Amino acid sequence: SNPSLLILAGDGIGPEVMAEVRKIIGWFGDKRGMAFDVTEDLVGGAAYDAHGTPLTDETMAKAQEADAVLLGAVGGPKYDVLDFSVKPERGLLRLRKEMDLYSNLRPAQCFDALADFSSLKKNVVAGLDIMIVRELTSGVYFGEPRGIIEEGNERVGINTQRYTESEIDRVARSAFELAMKRGKKLCSMEKANVMESGILWREVVTEVGKDYPEVELSHMYADAGAMQLTRWPKQFDVIVTDNLFGDLLSDLAAMLTGSLGMLPSASLGAPMANGRPKALYEPVHGSAPDIAGQGKANPCACILSFAMALRYSFDQGDEATRLEAAVEKVLADGVRTADLLNDEGITPATTADMGDAVIAALDAS
Ligand code: NAI
Ligand code: MG
Repeated sequence: SNPSLLILAGDGIGPEVMAEVRKIIGWFGDKRGMAFDVTEDLVGGAAYDAHGTPLTDETMAKAQEADAVLLGAVGGPKYDVLDFSVKPERGLLRLRKEMDLYSNLRPAQCFDALADFSSLKKNVVAGLDIMIVRELTSGVYFGEPRGIIEEGNERVGINTQRYTESEIDRVARSAFELAMKRGKKLCSMEKANVMESGILWREVVTEVGKDYPEVELSHMYADAGAMQLTRWPKQFDVIVTDNLFGDLLSDLAAMLTGSLGMLPSASLGAPMANGRPKALYEPVHGSAPDIAGQGKANPCACILSFAMALRYSFDQGDEATRLEAAVEKVLADGVRTADLLNDEGITPATTADMGDAVIAALDAS
């Protein structure tokens, strides 16, 4: 049977960008003989409107079964007044938590045609293609004890950075696997100079590295890593780091490359019975209420998220590269949504224009 794909388009521009991805999924079925069994369901505000919850148990069960989940975006001003327990974001958090998606892949890839959009010099970013692997389910965002307590005559805010060996081991392994498929170079970032969790992190990563002798492993303190990422990011291939440092470093790396409308992501968990990892793919951006419903959204982040699904869930690296090259060609040809234009005089492409141009580029590939 065909591999299964659960599409959760969500809110705001989510359904708009996902409509373009649907065209592309159709193209791979028609032209490349790669048919998927696609199911669509609701998440976020859309699910709340229909069912009073941002993710039903039925949808959660479908996500657990699917070979991959493709998500648009959740949230919007309409839902800001809701109780935290039913906020749209809770739907996404539940998916990540129950699927145990511990390995968050955030590529920072600079398409040459967009090198002018970087906040760095063109020669520093042109051709950049690095991947940050962020641990997503543990660390200081989850560690106990936590809370605000009274101590003497003042309050104390407490969080705990906590990593078990197995938590470090599994995310390290996913980063080494990735490095094997890429440039065989992995840099692990922590603060072993001042943090116990950092010492353990470095030890465990080094140990896992013995299983991957082909991968050149290096270690860097995360603060120095931030500096090196802006000084000369092309020195890196894959970077693996914890939840907190990964949050900061992946946002930093993302902005090396330009618009939020271009940034895909993957969140991977343990392998399922069929050997594929539990996986959720989504653009980094949110539901963009300021431009929703106007056909202005850039669908590339969501399209590139599907390319990641082809590569990491379906072992179709060549087809993923074909799709990424099609996006690159469209940008080089100057077909651009408003977020990718500096010049006021140029008429921006619509969301659908951009999707159609990618299809045309695929046809020509
Ligand atoms: P956002 O990413 O939705 O928008 C930030 C800015 O970037 C806006 O000006 C928006 O128009 C622009 N933008 C974002 N994606 C774009 C695209 N594909 N094409 C062109 N322009 C794009 O972040 P914001 O405004 O902070 O949050 C809006 C809502 O989205 C909130 O409800 C927030 O909670 C939610 N959100 C959801 C996320 C998710 O579903 N994973 C992630 C981030 C925010
Ligand atoms: Mg962040």
